[in-house]
Amino acid sequence: MVALLSSVAAVLAAATVVSAAPHIDPRHKLHERATIDSKTREVFAHFIVGIVPAYTQDDWVIDMELAQHYGIDGFALNVGADSWNHDQLDKAYAAAQRVGNFSNFLSFDFNWYNESSTKEIAELVKKYADHPNQLRVDDKPFVSTFVGDGFNWTHVEELVGHQIYAVPCWRETKENAANPNVEGLMSWAAWPGQANNNTPVDEPLSGDLDIQYMQDLQAKPYMAPVSPWFSTHFGKDVAWSKNWIFKSEDLWTYRWYQMLQLGPRYIEILTWNDYGESHYVGPYNQPHKDDGSSIWASGLVHTPMLDAAEPFIKAYKRSLPDPVVQEDKLVYWFRPHLKTASCDATDNCGAKPTGAEFVEDVVFVTSISKNGAKIVVQSGKDTPFQYEVPKGVHTFKHKMAPGVQQFLIETDAGKAAGASNLTVSDQCWNGIYNYNFHSGIVTIPPK
Ligand SMILES: *[C@@H]1O[C@H](CO)[C@@H](O)[C@H](O)[C@H]1NC(C)=O
Ligand SMILES: *[C@@H]1O[C@H](CO)[C@@H](O)[C@H](O)[C@H]1NC(C)=O
Ligand SMILES: *[C@@H]1O[C@H](CO)[C@@H](O)[C@H](O)[C@H]1NC(C)=O
Ligand SMILES: *[C@@H]1O[C@H](CO)[C@@H](O)[C@H](O)[C@H]1NC(C)=O
Repeated sequence: MVALLSSVAAVLAAATVVSAAPHIDPRHKLHERATIDSKTREVFAHFIVGIVPAYTQDDWVIDMELAQHYGIDGFALNVGADSWNHDQLDKAYAAAQRVGNFSNFLSFDFNWYNESSTKEIAELVKKYADHPNQLRVDDKPFVSTFVGDGFNWTHVEELVGHQIYAVPCWRETKENAANPNVEGLMSWAAWPGQANNNTPVDEPLSGDLDIQYMQDLQAKPYMAPVSPWFSTHFGKDVAWSKNWIFKSEDLWTYRWYQMLQLGPRYIEILTWNDYGESHYVGPYNQPHKDDGSSIWASGLVHTPMLDAAEPFIKAYKRSLPDPVVQEDKLVYWFRPHLKTASCDATDNCGAKPTGAEFVEDVVFVTSISKNGAKIVVQSGKDTPFQYEVPKGVHTFKHKMAPGVQQFLIETDAGKAAGASNLTVSDQCWNGIYNYNFHSGIVTIPPK
């Protein structure tokens, strides 16, 4: 670290540093406010069980301890029609018990389930209902879904033999909110354009739909989705071919600000490990089945986003309006190549993802400081810029140039520097369009 600090610092000192006021985007402000739900607040992360047939209990423990370290209370275990469901769910619940104070719940994926799966769903709910690490609310086991609007949860209750706490992910309608067999609702609209029939838009996510959910749900709890990114690029070689991105450049931090203003009862991070849509915040290198996404996800690290979320999670749980900073640091993220890179001939989809035109060639930097920070950014061979950033948590953007990305942070707690291990290119990523992102962190070590 010391060697790296001095080499990065030397590079930055040798060049002329230009000072600039950071452009901090204020658009996280909501148009309206919903009534804040002041009951116990919890944060979960959506975990795709379908891609971890080979997980050991230790693999589960690694993920759970990491999640818990950042204030995540449990996993929403996304299950489909996989033969390893029982095996992996047994391991997940046992691992949660080893970790302690970590609560799971099942999230049934209605890409696979439907009304005729009621018995199978009831069996799984029943199997884990009394597990000590099953999330229970009002002493009922909590269950959720991916879609499945209108599914009859009362029928599941009948088969399970006792009440369940169903908070399915259904579309926002007054009818769904008033449905007597659900206790609350979750939304999947974590990205601008998602709710609009998956059509990318050049707009930030407003929070209006969350407010609508909360108003229609009245006293029932709302589970809000929070996600860092969306980029998918599956070619015709797989049955699940899809090729689009949702504009989510600095979504992660402005969305967390929205959460502090909205105060939903629950938050679900989308996701822990969906590499296929590039919104994983967990580690990439855990053993998983490759659905074809390794060509854009391998080597692109996302876990530093958890460091950017931590001050918000702390504040959210305590109903505070501002993120709680405990350690001065910066988190950065950027895409691996410029927008001008062109490779239709070799690309697996033969085309850029829809929505690619809406993103900018910039590096995002989140400054996290108790009393303000001086941050120097050097992108590639460009002149380093120095930014004076106010205290708290602020994301700003810096023009991205090909090459190594270097960062320095100085606050009253000390100084630290770092360089990205991924180099930005003006060419495609191994011959394909890669609109996923890579992130890193520079932490000022405690004295
Ligand atoms: C368990 O986690 C909750 C929520 O994160 C926290 O408030 C509580 O103090 C923890 N309890 C223990 C025993 O660690
Ligand atoms: C429900 O799911 C089953 C099993 O996956 C499938 O065979 C059936 O066609 C589905 N029914 C409907 C109405 O989609
Ligand atoms: C849902 O299931 C319950 C219990 O089996 C049943 O009484 C009720 O009529 C069902 N509701 C609908 C809308 O089918
Ligand atoms: C960057 O470093 C991390 C952690 O060592 C590693 O997992 C990742 O693959 C590296 N990425 C690149 C592009 O070298």
